[in-house]
Amino acid sequence: VGPDSGDMACGEHGPGRLAEPRAILAAIGAAIGAALADGPLKGRHVLVTSGPTHEPIDPVRYIANRSSGQQGAALAEALRDLGARVTFVTGPAREPSPGGVDVVPVVTARDMLAAVQAALPADAAIFAAAVADWHVTNVSGSKMKKDGSGRPPALEFAENPDILAHVAGLKKDRPALVVGFAAETDDVEAHAAAKLVRKGCDWIVANDVSPATGIMGGGENAVTLISAAGAENWPRLPKDEVARRLAARVAAALRKPADAGAPGGDA
Ligand code: CTP
Repeated sequence: VGPDSGDMACGEHGPGRLAEPRAILAAIGAAIGAALADGPLKGRHVLVTSGPTHEPIDPVRYIANRSSGQQGAALAEALRDLGARVTFVTGPAREPSPGGVDVVPVVTARDMLAAVQAALPADAAIFAAAVADWHVTNVSGSKMKKDGSGRPPALEFAENPDILAHVAGLKKDRPALVVGFAAETDDVEAHAAAKLVRKGCDWIVANDVSPATGIMGGGENAVTLISAAGAENWPRLPKDEVARRLAARVAAALRKPADAGAPGGDA
């Protein structure tokens, strides 16, 4: 878009002016419209979970994690740009939700499961959320106070439902392609491959979230795409590029459902 021609701030005259916002907006709209019309995911419904979950302790405190929601938001955007109808179930993330997708905000893992169940059926489901593994069972109705004894409060926990495993195991309405993420800090590939089997999903996008990588909360990701066909290491890339490559793989797999077990392709 642009530049427009005319008087510029530096005193010169000619091409170099910022295009009018209205013209920029129209160009963006046209590009997205074209993508929606022609995209390979046109007519497909893709579900994406994203962000952290918050598990309350009392009315003012909660347990959370460092997930920014960036990778999930970028994925939803990339799928939308390929023409998919995207349901974006997101925990309280730092990253704003993308436009042009159906956003379902949730707080806890149990809310997320209910929102996912309500959003099915879907052609593909991608679980990028960093779901808390446990919730507190003795949530206090009022703010917990120090009682002067020096003893910390005892929190009791119960395991949260595994949303990915639940959807991957559905007999009815199981999406043709179920993709999980695996956030690991050591033995990334081995742990992720075990997760693929344990959770019954088709692909696992594994990443190393050790603090030294700066991946959790950072702008880049280095992933290994694991399926029954093997493991494929992708180079370290901006999270939106990882999202675009993954969205292209999803589109390719849905085009040829028989190949859903194998990432394949050349994205
Ligand atoms: N996941 C989920 N529901 C949960 C826990 C995880 O849907 N209650 C999904 C995540 O969205 C991700 C995948 O499962 O796609 C793996 O998440 P991860 O946190 O790496 O694994 P966990 O199952 O929590 O296993 P662990 O903590 O033992 O590594």
